[in-house]
Amino acid sequence: MHYLCTYQPTETNMKKQLKKILMMASVVLTLIGCAGNTASFDEIVANRRSVRSYDSSRKISEEQIRTLIATTQEAPSWANVQATRYYVVMSEEKLNKVLPSMLANQEKASTAPVLIVTTYKQDQSGFFNGEAANEVGNSWGAYDAGLSNAFLVLKAKEMGFDTLIMGLRDADGLKKALDIPSDETVMTVVALGYGNQVPKRPDRKPLDEILKIK
Ligand SMILES: Cc1cc2nc3c(=O)[nH]c(=O)nc-3n(C[C@H](O)[C@H](O)[C@H](O)COP(=O)(O)O)c2cc1C
Repeated sequence: MHYLCTYQPTETNMKKQLKKILMMASVVLTLIGCAGNTASFDEIVANRRSVRSYDSSRKISEEQIRTLIATTQEAPSWANVQATRYYVVMSEEKLNKVLPSMLANQEKASTAPVLIVTTYKQDQSGFFNGEAANEVGNSWGAYDAGLSNAFLVLKAKEMGFDTLIMGLRDADGLKKALDIPSDETVMTVVALGYGNQVPKRPDRKPLDEILKIK
């Protein structure tokens, strides 16, 4: 009220008001812009690609790894047994130790600053009181590890990283290099880093070939 009563529409006052309005508008536009930078789930899915070459000079911190795996841990698992394990190789010394076990993937893996070996503890996922719950047996462990890898690659993309899941690897060599217990089955090695290539999206099959609605 006081403001209305004392407001004089002089040229100076009007300029001041206009300046205020422009400042407020720029704050609002900045906020909208920031919100727009958050990628949607569909954008993350669309932008994730298997990347086979990395900028090895760009490192990833232990804290970033902890953030990544904490989200990965939110993946569902059989009776919440959380049988998946992650062996994160970050030091140059360990990376060199692991590389010979990467077989045909050795060159692709060699530029990644981080390699994550995923395993699962046997006889947990798909088991009740030490007995397999059904015919799938320990393949449920593989299923859970796959689910967690899906969370991992999507969270990695959200964090600005690229990934490559690798199934071609020497499991025994990895177990030896990383002291992985004998009751764990090695699944994938996931390369993590900043890609230095933008691969084309490999075509997907027509939806009706894989989807049958009954
Ligand atoms: C279980 C699994 C194993 C894979 N193994 C390899 C591998 O050993 N070497 C490789 O270059 N890519 C490997 N890939 C990546 C696939 O080739 C890739 O996901 C597929 O071609 C689709 O491409 P996109 O990931 O860019 O969508 C693997 C992917 C999965 C899920």
